[in-house]
Amino acid sequence: MTQKALISFEDGSKYELPIIKATKGEDAVDVSSLLKQTHLFTYDAGFLSTASCKSSITYIDGDKGILLHRGYKIADLAEKVSFSSLFYALLFGELPKEKEFKDFEKRILEKMVVEEEVKKIILTFKPSSHPMAIMMAAISMLSAKYGANYSPYKEEAIIETAIDTLAKVCATGAYVYRFVLGLAEVDLKVDLSKSFEQNLSNFMFKGTEAEKYIDVVANTINKILILHADHEQNASTSSVRLVASTDVNIYASVVAGFAALWGPLHGGANEAVINMLKEIGDVKNIPLYVEKAKDKNSNFRLMGFGHRVYKNYDPRASVLKSSCDTVLEKLHSNQNNILSIAKELEKIALSDSYFKERKLFPNVDFYSGIIYKALGMPSSFFTVIFGMGRTAGWVAQVKEAMADEAKKISRPRQVYVGNTERTF
Ligand code: CMC
Repeated sequence: MTQKALISFEDGSKYELPIIKATKGEDAVDVSSLLKQTHLFTYDAGFLSTASCKSSITYIDGDKGILLHRGYKIADLAEKVSFSSLFYALLFGELPKEKEFKDFEKRILEKMVVEEEVKKIILTFKPSSHPMAIMMAAISMLSAKYGANYSPYKEEAIIETAIDTLAKVCATGAYVYRFVLGLAEVDLKVDLSKSFEQNLSNFMFKGTEAEKYIDVVANTINKILILHADHEQNASTSSVRLVASTDVNIYASVVAGFAALWGPLHGGANEAVINMLKEIGDVKNIPLYVEKAKDKNSNFRLMGFGHRVYKNYDPRASVLKSSCDTVLEKLHSNQNNILSIAKELEKIALSDSYFKERKLFPNVDFYSGIIYKALGMPSSFFTVIFGMGRTAGWVAQVKEAMADEAKKISRPRQVYVGNTERTF
C-alpha cells in the first residue's frame, strides 16, 4: 500500500492525502486537511468507511470472525481470565501479573457500593420502568455527586474515576436488578476474600433460586461480562468517546453509552431476541417468521442476526452457543423450548439464500438472552448486563481518547440540503 492517496478533480487539480498505517487491518486515508485544501467535506452516512480515531484496545476482522482485545483472542480470554483481569488489560494495555491483579481487584471491590442518593433515585421509579432508564438516572446521580471533582487532564484522576465508574455501575446494576424483580433489600457488602464476579453474583442473586448454583452463576456472569467488555467503535462507544471529547466527567459519558446501547439495533437486541423467540412459540412457526424477515414490505427482522462488521460469524456468539447447553443443564432451566426454537431458527436461516447472500449470521445477542433467562432475569434487564460489561470498554476508551495528542472536541459537519436564504 502506498503512503499517500491522490485525489484528482475534473478540472485537473490534484491533492495529496497521507495514509495512516494500521498495525493490522485496513489503513486509513487522513482526510483532516481536505476541507482546507479543497473546500469539500467527505460524506459517509452511518460511518461505513470512516475511522473516527486511532485505537490500540480492540481489533475486529469481520470477514474472518476475529475479535482481539490487546491482541488476545476473545475465546481465550473468555476461557482463561477473569473480567477484572480483562478490565485491567483494557485500561493499561497488558494483562495483570498476580500481585497487580490482586491489588486491582481490591481497588474495584472497595468502590463497589450503592450510594444512598442513588438508592433514593432508583426508588422513585416504578419497578415496571425500563431498567435502562433507571440506570441512566442512577449514573446521572453519580455524575452529580462526583463529577465536579473530576479532572479530565490528569491521568491518575481518569484511572481512579474509570475504576470507580465500573465498580459503581455494576453495584448499581445489581441493586436495580433486585428492585425491578421486587427482591428483598439485603445488605450488599463486598466480601474482599471473594472475586469481583462472585461479589456481583451475590449482590444480584442472594435469596433467589440462582443462589443455589452461585459458582456456576458467577462463572457465567464472568464470561458474559468478558464477551461484552469492548467492541471497538460501535454506536455506544462512539457516543461515549464523542461526549468525553467535551471534557465532561466519565459518569456523564457513560450515561450516553447506556442511552445508545438501549436501542434494539444495538444492545437492546438481546431483549428483542427473547421476545421474538417467545412470539414464534413453536418450531413449526419458524418458516413463517423467516419469510416475514425476508419480506421488504414488513419491518420485521430476525433479531440477533446480522452485524455491521462481522460478515462471517460473530466469535462471541460461538463462545456463548457452546456455553448455552452447559448452563441450561447445570441450572436445571426450563428454557429448553426457547433454546430448541433458537437452534432450529439458526439452522433454517443459515441455509436460506437470503441470509447467506447478505452474510447474516447469529450475533452475540442471539444466545445471551437464553442464558439470562435461565438465570431468572427479566428480559428488560438483559441490556443492563451488556452495559455493565461494556462499561469496562467505555471507560478504557475514554482514558485512551484523553491521552491522544490529536484529541479535539468531536464535531462532524453536514451537507446542507435545506432552503437557501429567502425573504421573511
Ligand atoms: N433480518 C433480516 N434482514 C436483515 C437483517 C435481519 N436481522 N439484518 C440485515 N438484514 C438485511 C437488510 O434488510 C439488508 O437487505 P437489502 O440489502 O436487501 O436491503 C441487508 O441485510 C443489509 O442490512 P443493513 O441494515 O444495511 O446492515 P447494517 O450493517 O446497517 O445493520 C444490524 C446491522 C445489526 C443493525 C442489522 O443486521 C440488524 O438490524 N440486525 C438485527 C438487530 C440485531 O441483532 N442487532 C444486534 C447487533 S450485535 C450486538 C451489538 O453490537 O450491539
